[in-house]
Amino acid sequence: MIKIMNLKVVANQKTPFEKTIIENINCEFPKNKVTLLVGASGAGKSTIINSITKTVPYKGDILIDNINTKKIKNHEFHKMIGYAMQNPEKQIFTTTIYDEINYAHKNIIGQDMSKEQVQEKLKKSGLNHIDIEKAPRSLSGGEKRKISILASTSHNPEILIFDEPLASLDNPSKKQHLQMLSKIENKTVIIITHNIVEFKNIADKIIFITDDKKIIQGPYAEILKNEAMQEYYND
Ligand SMILES: Nc1ncnc2c1ncn2[C@@H]1O[C@H](COP(=O)(O)OP(=O)(O)OP(=O)(O)O)[C@@H](O)[C@H]1O
Ligand SMILES: [Mg+2]
Repeated sequence: MIKIMNLKVVANQKTPFEKTIIENINCEFPKNKVTLLVGASGAGKSTIINSITKTVPYKGDILIDNINTKKIKNHEFHKMIGYAMQNPEKQIFTTTIYDEINYAHKNIIGQDMSKEQVQEKLKKSGLNHIDIEKAPRSLSGGEKRKISILASTSHNPEILIFDEPLASLDNPSKKQHLQMLSKIENKTVIIITHNIVEFKNIADKIIFITDDKKIIQGPYAEILKNEAMQEYYND
């Protein structure tokens, strides 16, 4: 379980552009559950994730299984987290699909994946027609998203964070991905999305950031009935 306590993030600290992005954020992402993190554009979803992954400075505490992430050594921490970013273009950085998917496995587990292992992963994502020596940059938007998800999870992390994992995917690919997500066991899964309905069959919990940046959280079905949530989605 990830527990976020009194999180506050201030951008451009100590400059004339200083701006509090989020504050007083308290929420939990339970283990063995899929939690949707939702809210308007600019609500602070990516900022919460960047705090969890320690990629922005923040105030407050973030605990993973009761251990403060500030106390977890870098290597241990990277082992725990798999994060597929909102924009795969920002994530993809190697010159072949094989290298991209193998990277976390090699660097974190300390062992290369075999070509067959990579091909098997591609097959499960419906990318079996693709040559693993090809440059990821040459792929379509949807294909890049699939590669970014495979790359971020190749080291089998216990916390999976997917920012808009179904964006720019065609319908068969969405189904494949949802099926893949539904088979995940014993992990903490966080999905950022603007489309909660797409995840209705796999989501356990919703954490909703309201327009005035308050947190509403609870079981999927319960939060769907929440007034602020209904107002937000029915407009
Ligand atoms: N480095 C920064 N400097 C100034 N403002 C920032 C910075 N990073 C984020 N912000 C602002 O903080 C707010 C929250 O941004 P964030 O990216 O967390 O939103 P989000 O909920 O992920 O939105 P989206 O759904 O569009 O991805 C936005 O208004 C954004 O402009
Ligand atoms: Mg975002």
